[in-house]
Amino acid sequence: MSNTNEIRVWDPLIRVFHWTLALAVLVALITEDDLLWAHTWAGYTVLGLVAARWVWGFIGSEHARFSDFVRPPHETLAYLGDVAAFRARRYLGHNPAGGAMVVAMLLLLPLVALSGMAVYGYLEFSGPLAGLFNASPDSWSSVLKEIHELLADLLLVLVGLHLAGVAIASLQHRENLVRSLWTGRKSKHE
Ligand code: HEM
Repeated sequence: MSNTNEIRVWDPLIRVFHWTLALAVLVALITEDDLLWAHTWAGYTVLGLVAARWVWGFIGSEHARFSDFVRPPHETLAYLGDVAAFRARRYLGHNPAGGAMVVAMLLLLPLVALSGMAVYGYLEFSGPLAGLFNASPDSWSSVLKEIHELLADLLLVLVGLHLAGVAIASLQHRENLVRSLWTGRKSKHE
């Protein structure tokens, strides 16, 4: 049933993108050591989802567009100061700090997936990048693995900060942002 106090903020692509992405990252995380086929497919899924999201950031619905939520650094810092002082204003789309985090994750996620494809190509001679590493020196193996693990660890730090940001904004504005990203709707109140 539709609620007249609510408006549609997140389109279906954003909602499907987000929850499939979170699931794919979770699958990649829990299969990293034992289920290489699931780990690699989770990585390809992440890459496809993020590619679609980059395009949608330019042609998607109002709040899906980068122009709606990417703000200059001074505005983002001022917003964080307002959060610390409990006087941050409410945004219907992403707030400036959330927007910066979205861009950071959309840049880091493909790097994690691509570095994983490089490891897979080098160690298993499999995947789309296998051909690139035929003549690579042995020492690359540990370097590529280290890079992939470092980037994945950095992603986990960003996800942790992302979840903290969602929790803080939800508490400060007394709204359930997780529910909004599921239903696509937010309350109209200021
Ligand atoms: C690996 C896990 C996750 C990743 C990589 C991730 C990434 C993202 C990205 C890229 C967005 C921007 C959505 C868009 O504009 O397309 C976003 C938004 C959001 N995410 Fe996540 N997310 C993850 C897990 C979660 C989880 C577990 C929750 C909740 C429990 C969550 C809650 C949210 C919410 C509420 C928003 C919208 C924030 C707002 O209202 O501005 N995320 N996330």
